[in-house]
Amino acid sequence: MRRFLVAGNWKMNTDRAGGTALATAVAAADPGPKTDVLVCPPFPYLIPVGEALQGSGVRLGAQDVWYEPSGAFTGEVSVAMLRDTGCSHVVLGHSERRHILGETDETICRKVQAAIAGHLTVILCVGELLEEREAGQTEAVLNRQLAGGLEGISEQDAADLVIAYEPVWAIGTGVTASPDQAETAHAHIRNWLADRYNAAFSDRIRILYGGSVKPDNAQTLMQQSNVDGALVGGASLKADSFLAIVDAARSLAAAE
Ligand code: PGA
Repeated sequence: MRRFLVAGNWKMNTDRAGGTALATAVAAADPGPKTDVLVCPPFPYLIPVGEALQGSGVRLGAQDVWYEPSGAFTGEVSVAMLRDTGCSHVVLGHSERRHILGETDETICRKVQAAIAGHLTVILCVGELLEEREAGQTEAVLNRQLAGGLEGISEQDAADLVIAYEPVWAIGTGVTASPDQAETAHAHIRNWLADRYNAAFSDRIRILYGGSVKPDNAQTLMQQSNVDGALVGGASLKADSFLAIVDAARSLAAAE
């Protein structure tokens, strides 16, 4: 059985005091034995947030990384630096990085390779734009992003991989994919992984849903058989709403 993962993507939000307080509140929660919890603060707050999480089971993740190990890459951060701050996870290929910052599948793949080589667990985000969905291209877009992001990645490399399906039209808009739309896309991703790797591998991989996940829709989304948790943006910035989503995962896991 796959464990649930509820991950908070704080994006470019919070400050040192607010982020630390939020992490302290998240650290105090009990997600139960079958749900993993992760928070991904902005780079400057990784260390204080990591300190606030110490002793709890809540993991620390980054929102991006650069693929070179060191050198003249002004403004960038390496895998080893993230490990040094206590990160275990990194979000890669988020739609804001693809669409606002112009990241290509090729760049994302280099980051995936570097993160895996440096023992960070990768959360690879994929998802279609509204016009792509309306043009019936959702599956083609997912195929392209999966193939591009995972090029050259072996089954062994991908053992800890997490995929996040985040339809771009649902991110930060308040419009959530319906449970059916999410399940259809997740099942497609799982089939793609089974074709590319094998069924046993695909069955183990966690696929998170992201895009306007809130306390009132989290349970129905995570109830879908191929939805193994959530990547939460806006609702992860308040302890109450994030912990309500963690709690939804905990009760679903307990009922299994
Ligand atoms: P949202 O963001 O929950 O605010 O829609 C999700 C994400 O971008 O990961």
